Amino acid sequence: MDRKKFLKNMGLGSAAIALAACGTTQELGEEEDCKLTHLDDKGPFYFKGSSETVNLNYTNLPGEAMLVSGTVYSGEGTETPLSGVKIDIWHCDSEGNYHPNDGGTINNENADKMALRGFVITDKNGKFSFKSILPGLYGRRSRHIHYILSVKGHSSLVTQSYFKGDPRIPIDGLSKTAGECRIVKFDKSGELYMGVMNFNLQKKG
Ligand SMILES: [Fe+2]
Repeated sequence: MDRKKFLKNMGLGSAAIALAACGTTQELGEEEDCKLTHLDDKGPFYFKGSSETVNLNYTNLPGEAMLVSGTVYSGEGTETPLSGVKIDIWHCDSEGNYHPNDGGTINNENADKMALRGFVITDKNGKFSFKSILPGLYGRRSRHIHYILSVKGHSSLVTQSYFKGDPRIPIDGLSKTAGECRIVKFDKSGELYMGVMNFNLQKKG
């Protein structure tokens, strides 16, 4: 479907929303291309100062095991993997609660209440992986994982990934325009759900 037709079918005309966080403008109702990973809403549950870990479920909350892996690239395409990228990750538990259900900066007083939050660093080939549990659902949101990616020489990216087959994707205002690039297919191997999420970061200058 061409873009005009898609927008018309969505009943959105040419309405545009300015996503000020990154200084770019994304048209509401327009599906993403896969050239650069698009930004998404940060939401209210981000805590600054989480720890490096490949196991986000370090408090052993109940849920179905999930392994997310992928590669971060510089610019468009897959020619230039980026090492040393910090990927901050956070998501809710299987019942839709964040730990804590709040946001801010992690300090000594609240550090022991943290769960399902942490960061990983990409290796020399731009690769990363982390284990956790499948996030649940809350409010009107589709199932999702939050990320902030940062590395020298590239614009920071605040984004989210979604789960292929989730019936809420077309009715959640954030996920419905995500296109295929951030909708991750998870395959079950034994007791583990495995998915691949790749990122393309915009070079500065
Ligand atoms: Fe969220």
